[in-house]
Amino acid sequence: MLDDVVRDLELARSRTLSLTDLDEPTLVAQHDPLMSPLVWDLAHVGQQEELWLLRDGDPSRPGLLEPDVDSLYDAFKHPRAERPALPLLPPVAARAYDYEVRGRVLDLLERTPAADLFTAGMVVQHEEQHDETMYATLQLRQGPPVLLPRHSLPPGRTVTPERVFVAGGPFTLGVNASSEPFSLDNERPAHTVDVAPFWIGRTPVSNGQWRDFIADAGYDRPELWSPRGWAHRLAAGLSRPKFWTADGTRRRFGVEEEVPDDEPVQHVCYFEAEAFARWSGGRLPTEQEWEKACAWDPVAGTRRTWPWGSAPPTDERANLGGAGLRPAPVGAYPEGASAYGAEQMIGDVWEWTSSEFAPWPGFTPMIYRDYSQPFFGGDYQVLRGGSWAVARSTIRPSFRNWDHPIRRQIFTGVRLAWDA
Ligand SMILES: [Fe+2]
Repeated sequence: MLDDVVRDLELARSRTLSLTDLDEPTLVAQHDPLMSPLVWDLAHVGQQEELWLLRDGDPSRPGLLEPDVDSLYDAFKHPRAERPALPLLPPVAARAYDYEVRGRVLDLLERTPAADLFTAGMVVQHEEQHDETMYATLQLRQGPPVLLPRHSLPPGRTVTPERVFVAGGPFTLGVNASSEPFSLDNERPAHTVDVAPFWIGRTPVSNGQWRDFIADAGYDRPELWSPRGWAHRLAAGLSRPKFWTADGTRRRFGVEEEVPDDEPVQHVCYFEAEAFARWSGGRLPTEQEWEKACAWDPVAGTRRTWPWGSAPPTDERANLGGAGLRPAPVGAYPEGASAYGAEQMIGDVWEWTSSEFAPWPGFTPMIYRDYSQPFFGGDYQVLRGGSWAVARSTIRPSFRNWDHPIRRQIFTGVRLAWDA
């Protein structure tokens, strides 16, 4: 277990360093009001690692940084919009600080019993989540490309029928520490839930399908949208996914290119996902339905660790880690199918669900008490499955992400569901 944690800490750090191997102006600029300057993320991952692993989560305990500098990296004290004006550590100092913290952490972990490694696993996932955020920042950035794909993706295939049936009945939703020691507080505890039978899309919705929605005036028909969604569509002037251009191309990491029809659509908000679903005659899945279709094995009557079984993710099963720089085409991962036959549930694009973010019964906050709790009951929709930019250490069938329904800078897509 210690070896796994150390490996994952190192993988996270190598991603952080490669995503911030950029010139100083690029690192200190704010590329979008929604995002932090990259140099803030760079020091924040070290500051959080120090806080949770070396300072017991207590910010009043002395750390390596002066208190006024340390507090610059408290995400609750400084909203993203004000971060560029803060006297942040310059990149060289941020890297040196991260390096110093990591050395002390590795020394400490050697003396830490396996049962106490949860917090280190949480720190891994925190850094990896920021790495995904940095991909989103670099996608928003204007200017010539600084990231290139380092890994080719498998080809797609035609997938028919387009939906799979999931029988009703009880299943186990959520997980416990015994089976998923690094699951976060909002994924726990495991409990039995009953869902009515439903159908779910075998794959995420593609760009080609989204083009049909646009061509059928999907953005101009209020009856397809919820009242709140339509008000937002008008106010924000939505007419196509973010980063698509009026002439049918898109801008992706500084490159203008054709929109590939067979790739899962991304950069759509929850309101667009809802409207698309209504147009197509379906709906969005609840997160309970999503998790059942992903992880439940109806023959064995148990959960699987991954949709396909217990073997770890490989390049043949899921698109994770960010090196491909995009979702894989629809149908690229037949070996990644769940027991019900749903594909690409892990990786590629985060999938909007119709569920608002709320605790599972019996929820108990983890050491990072404000990770989930302040967000329960807020204006957040749950997203499932992870994107092409998430790390293997930071996604599971039980993993719950959440965001405001208007957000679309994240790598979000859509999977449909239907009542049976
Ligand atoms: Fe953070």
